[in-house]
Amino acid sequence: MAGILRAADFAPDPFAQFAAWFAAAGSIRQPEAAALATASADGVPSVRMVLLKGWGEAGFVFFTNYESRKGEELATNPRAALVVHWEPLGRQIRVEGAVERTSEDESDAYFATRPRGSQLAARASHQSRPLADRAEIDAAFVALERRFAGGPVPRPRTWGGFRLVPSAVEFWQHQEHRLHDRLVYRRAGTGWRLERLAP
Ligand SMILES: Cc1cc2nc3c(=O)[nH]c(=O)nc-3n(C[C@H](O)[C@H](O)[C@H](O)COP(=O)(O)O)c2cc1C
Repeated sequence: MAGILRAADFAPDPFAQFAAWFAAAGSIRQPEAAALATASADGVPSVRMVLLKGWGEAGFVFFTNYESRKGEELATNPRAALVVHWEPLGRQIRVEGAVERTSEDESDAYFATRPRGSQLAARASHQSRPLADRAEIDAAFVALERRFAGGPVPRPRTWGGFRLVPSAVEFWQHQEHRLHDRLVYRRAGTGWRLERLAP
């Protein structure tokens, strides 16, 4: 387990700090897997896993279907929170903030890197909508395979990225006797303020 976290050792912004912890995540399987919480317009929460595909000064990026439950919740209530937990390292990172769509170019660029099967699946799946049975989506996939045979699979307009632009990012480190360390970045002017919270 890591030693005591010291604010003085932390980066000036949470993105650099996230990158440093991510680089040290080494043996963690799928360190980019995060639980993403959204809420409906009237405040009913929901949570599910997503894969973080980018992080930097602009925010934390994930990709999904804009007409999924999360997509619709974010359209009417564009705020979200996410958390990653790396149990072997005793580390948790929490992010909260506003959400915006990535640009069409950014979504196109990422879509183009996906395996062809994933591209076809993104077209075949009306994510979060009811299916009569498994056969329905398998048939849709096969039909799309035929339709796009020999050519590129275009990104569906309903699929793309979201960027969570944080107002707060908390780094948590397990410590003895449950006296865990918590250091949270909050926006202050054009920079960030780092504060220690009780465990
Ligand atoms: C480890 C893991 C990673 C996932 N990554 C994504 C993702 O990046 N994008 C996505 O749309 N769904 C992802 N899913 C599926 C979602 O958890 C969820 O089932 C789906 O997006 C529908 O959620 P919704 O109905 O709340 O919109 C992932 C699931 C797991 C278990």
